Amino acid sequence: MKEEIQQLRTQFEADIAAATDGRDVEALRIKYLGRNGLVTALSRNMKHVAPQDRPVIGKMINELNTLVRDAIQARKDDEGETQQEAGIDLTLPGRTPRVGRRHPLTQIRDEIKQIFLRLGFAVADGPEVETDFNNFEALNIPKLHPARNMQDTLYISEELVLRTHTSPVQIRTMLKQKPPVRIIAPGRVYRRDTPDASHSPFFHQIEGLLVDEGISMGDLKAILSVFTKEMFGADTKVRFRPSYFPFTEPSAEMDMWWESDKGGRWLELLGCGMVNPKVLENVGIDPQRYSGWAFGGGIDRMAILKYGINDIRLFFDNDLRFLEQF
Ligand code: DAH
Repeated sequence: MKEEIQQLRTQFEADIAAATDGRDVEALRIKYLGRNGLVTALSRNMKHVAPQDRPVIGKMINELNTLVRDAIQARKDDEGETQQEAGIDLTLPGRTPRVGRRHPLTQIRDEIKQIFLRLGFAVADGPEVETDFNNFEALNIPKLHPARNMQDTLYISEELVLRTHTSPVQIRTMLKQKPPVRIIAPGRVYRRDTPDASHSPFFHQIEGLLVDEGISMGDLKAILSVFTKEMFGADTKVRFRPSYFPFTEPSAEMDMWWESDKGGRWLELLGCGMVNPKVLENVGIDPQRYSGWAFGGGIDRMAILKYGINDIRLFFDNDLRFLEQF
């Protein structure tokens, strides 16, 4: 077997040296590497090799295979360059460069950002590895709150987590900046979840926060209604339902009326509410003087609605057949 491999190598070296043009090279490719090629046949014969010899023989065949493949590719590359240099036909249309495009989630995120920038908000940012304080404690999520359940949170250590929401950016911002505060914070968040069509262990949220003197729930409703109409169309209907979040009081959920071929229904779009005075105290802002509102919602979810996508995993598979549709 060893001699056979050696012989085949010598034969190939002679063949490739004798090949004069691209057609010869292609014929060689088929002769050696094709379905019934000589190197292919060698690999197929492996089953007749004694088990103790297989590692050595296998390695030799692999090396030969690589050598043949690389030599053929190198000759093909040369061939292309020579043709180009010869400038054979200048009237041939040029090669269209492949233009990349922005990921659908990036597009949606930028669209959301643009709307809030027009409304006078700034963009804030925070790390994906967060402290327990920023992700939970300062947001009035006490140690025994169900949101801290090991089921949901991915812990790095006792004190560090992969942020479970973008709300810690509220804390970071208010610790640095005194009111008026007017920010949005888009970003990636993590939860312990088994992937399926509607769950992913990571996804994207957008957070909003406005703190100033004399801010009321009316301001929140006005801004979020404007946002939804800009995002989903001028006749979009929204409703606010009472809800509960530890970091807001009162809290609400905003639903959007959604029409599809199956009829219309209310879909939950985001959580929101008046910033809990305890949260303001935690970051050293006087709740007697200042009040604020906040919201947080899923960017992936908004993209799913806007584009009519039925599986969240499509966003993360990087399949060009999907990505090229946007
Ligand atoms: N952080 C919440 C979540 O991930 C969403 C949320 C609700 C954010 C209400 C807020 C808010 O800022 O006010 O489920």
